[in-house]
Amino acid sequence: MRGPKATIHLDRLIANYNRVKTRVNHKPIMAVVKANGYGHGAVGCAQALESHGCQFFGVFTLEEGIELRDAGITSDILVFSRMDTEKLNSAIQNNLTLNVANSHDVDVLVQYYKSIGQSPKFHLKVETGMTRLGIDMDAMDHVLHQLVDHPHLPCEGIYSHYATADEGDLTYALAQEAKFKSILALAAQKGIKFNHVHFSNSGAVLNMDQSEYNLIRVGMLLYGAYPSDEVPQDLNIQPVMTFTAPIVNVRHVPQNTAVSYGGVYHTKSDTNIGVIQCGFSDGLPRPWYVDGYVSYGGINYPIAGRICMDQFMVDFGDTEPIEGEDVLLMGKWEEDEITMETIAKSIDSTPYVLSTAIGGRTERIYQD
Ligand SMILES: Cc1ncc(COP(=O)(O)O)c(C=O)c1O
Repeated sequence: MRGPKATIHLDRLIANYNRVKTRVNHKPIMAVVKANGYGHGAVGCAQALESHGCQFFGVFTLEEGIELRDAGITSDILVFSRMDTEKLNSAIQNNLTLNVANSHDVDVLVQYYKSIGQSPKFHLKVETGMTRLGIDMDAMDHVLHQLVDHPHLPCEGIYSHYATADEGDLTYALAQEAKFKSILALAAQKGIKFNHVHFSNSGAVLNMDQSEYNLIRVGMLLYGAYPSDEVPQDLNIQPVMTFTAPIVNVRHVPQNTAVSYGGVYHTKSDTNIGVIQCGFSDGLPRPWYVDGYVSYGGINYPIAGRICMDQFMVDFGDTEPIEGEDVLLMGKWEEDEITMETIAKSIDSTPYVLSTAIGGRTERIYQD
């Protein structure tokens, strides 16, 4: 196909996984592969990780979990989204672990168990400061009582989620942790034991002590980018995705030629303009045109004018690029590198936004 390609380097994914694992003293990792593996392809990434020992995956929707099961993934899969009471049967059939986010969710599972004699597995999610999904602190006592009253319910874990673990100031994250620990103490008083206790994300792996937890949730570090520039960047991770696209046309144009929509770019001298087949609908972020560049033959060339939906232009100057050859848009390609972090910083975005946007007509190619 002539168009953008995302080459997914599974060897780098596994190397990143091993680096994270070493950093957390070889605790089990829950690899977060929601949103199609942050744009890297959930199935391909999960299969590679599972074959290298990963036994837990995190997804957002039940359908994402089913996609992994259909592809042969047998590890535990936790579904982060609000429990869908219409799909409890499907959760059981597909052996998916659900997210219990308030006492009503427990009531539903109690009733379900009464009617069919089983319940999906679940983890309790505690709201400690994200103000998103989770059981309120003042409702936890009641929920823990519900578990004591219904010991047959398969509650397999408890977790929470940091709002600021990737920031330089950890005051808020530590306050969240104190709340979570008070709930763990309350549960222990009631004699409740959880198989899995987890709190982390990539920021916490780099920035915070995870020794009290027995499962490490992590996404972005596995894909080879740092969650922010406020965390120690000392893990030697490698970008898993190399995003490239072909030069499909080269035009020699005179000085002062307007390029692309709005005519905001004018050539400074006679030059070679290459048309690249990839646009914002394929995941190349449009605001990157202002200061952005591509790499070709080890040299960076500026993006010329606004990125269009399906194509964009590059000012190659005196270089005559060869039609059909690829330029590097993002990632690492032999010695060339344009990191997600560099682009994210330039356009005031994050690697999360950039990587999950890569899709459209982009072809994913898996490489070991
Ligand atoms: C509930 C939950 N856990 C873990 C993660 C992984 O975070 P990160 O990619 O920063 O490691 C996410 C990602 O957004 C999440 O929503």
